[in-house]
Amino acid sequence: MKRYEDLSPSLRCIMTPGPVEVDPRVLRAMSFPVLGQFDPEFTDIMNETMGMLRELFVTGNQWAYPVDGTSRSGIEAAMVSLIAPGDRVLIPIFGRFGHLLHEIAERCGAEVRVLEKTWGSVFESSEVIAAMENFRPHVVAMVHGETSTGRVQPLAEIGRACREQDCLFIVDAVATIGGVPVETDAWMLDAVIGGTQKCLSVPSGMAPITYNERAEAKLLTRKRVERGLRTGDVEPGELSFVRSNYFDLGMLQDYWSPKRLNHHTEMTSMLYALREGLRLTLEEGLAARFARHILHEKALIAGLTAMGLNLYGDPESKLTVVTCVLIPEGVDGESVRSMLLDRFGIEIASTFGPLKGLIWRIGTMGFSCRENNILRLLGALEAVLIRHGVTVPRGLAIQAALDVYE
Ligand SMILES: Cc1ncc(COP(=O)(O)O)c(C=O)c1O
Repeated sequence: MKRYEDLSPSLRCIMTPGPVEVDPRVLRAMSFPVLGQFDPEFTDIMNETMGMLRELFVTGNQWAYPVDGTSRSGIEAAMVSLIAPGDRVLIPIFGRFGHLLHEIAERCGAEVRVLEKTWGSVFESSEVIAAMENFRPHVVAMVHGETSTGRVQPLAEIGRACREQDCLFIVDAVATIGGVPVETDAWMLDAVIGGTQKCLSVPSGMAPITYNERAEAKLLTRKRVERGLRTGDVEPGELSFVRSNYFDLGMLQDYWSPKRLNHHTEMTSMLYALREGLRLTLEEGLAARFARHILHEKALIAGLTAMGLNLYGDPESKLTVVTCVLIPEGVDGESVRSMLLDRFGIEIASTFGPLKGLIWRIGTMGFSCRENNILRLLGALEAVLIRHGVTVPRGLAIQAALDVYE
C-alpha cells in the first residue's frame, strides 16, 4: 500500500493579489472545536459575525453575512438572485473580473450590454452614466478593485446615478474590502461582495456580502422556499424564481435570520476564521489599516523605482494593494518568479489575458502587507534580476524603502 508523508507545506512569503498569508491567530481559530449549527453558542457567533461585517462594509444594512464558497460564490449569489431572466444588465469592464461578471450575467439569462475600457485604466463616471441613460438597465454590475490590472474604479457618482434611475448596483469589492475604503451606504451600493483571502487575510472559502432593502425587495419577489421545508401550498415568485438553490439569497437570509430556517450546513471552522479575521481588522481600525496599506505600497514603489523598474498602468487609478510591474525587455518573467519562489520562498504573481508575460503583479494585502516582507522582496528581486542579466543599481532599492519607513 502506498504510504503518504505527513503534510508539511512550506512557510512562504506570499506577495500576490491573493491568497495571502494568514495571521496565526486566524489559523488558531480554525482549530477550535466544531459546534452544532443550531447550538446557541454557534448562532451567537453567526450574529457577531454579521455585526462585524456591517462595520467592515460601513453599512446599516440588516443583511451582511458570508456565502459559503470562494469569492465568486458571493458574486454569483448576488447576481443569480438579483437578475431575473430578460433583465437589462450593464457591465463596464476594465479587466478580467469584469468579464467574469459578464459571464455570470449571461448565465442568468440577462440582456447584457458591456462597456470596455483598455486594460490599465478605469472609467470616467460620466461614461458609465451616459451608457445607463441610453440602455436603462435594471442592474449595473462592476468591479471596484481589479486585481488583473491593479486599478481601482471610483464608484460614488455611479452609485448615485443608479439610485436616481432606480437601478440596482452590484459591486465586486473582493480585492478592496479591508484594504482600501469601501463605503457601501455613502456610495449607494445596493449589493457588495467582499473576499476573505485578500486584505482580510483569512483563507479562501467564504464570500462576505451585504445588500440593502432595495435589493432585498427584488430578491424576495423571486424567492422560493425549498421543497421539504415549505409550509404553504403557493410560493411567491413561482414563475421567475431564482434558478439556483445554493445561491438563493432569499433562502440564505432565512438561515441567517432568527428564523434559522435550515439551508446548507454552515462551515463552522471557516466561520471561526472569518470572525477572527474581522475581529483583528476592526481591532486595528479601518482607517489605520488603510493607512498601513498605503505606507507599504509607498515603500514598495520607492524600492522598485530605485531598482530602475517601471510600473504598469495609469497612476491616477492605481489600486493601493496591487502593484503591477513591467517585466524588463528580454527577461523571462516566469523564470524570475520561479527563482523567487524556489530560492527565497517568495511568491509574486503573473497575470491573465492580454497582459500575460508583460507584467508581474505584487500584492500588499492584509497580513502579508508588512515591512519585513517588503524589504525581503526588494532584496530578493534585486538579486534575482542580477542573476537574469539585468543591470540593476545595486543596493538602492532597500535603501529607498527604508527611507520611506524612516
Ligand atoms: C476582483 C476579483 N473578483 C473576483 C475574484 C474571484 O474570487 P475567487 O477566486 O475567490 O472565487 C477574484 C479572485 O482573485 C478577484 O480578484
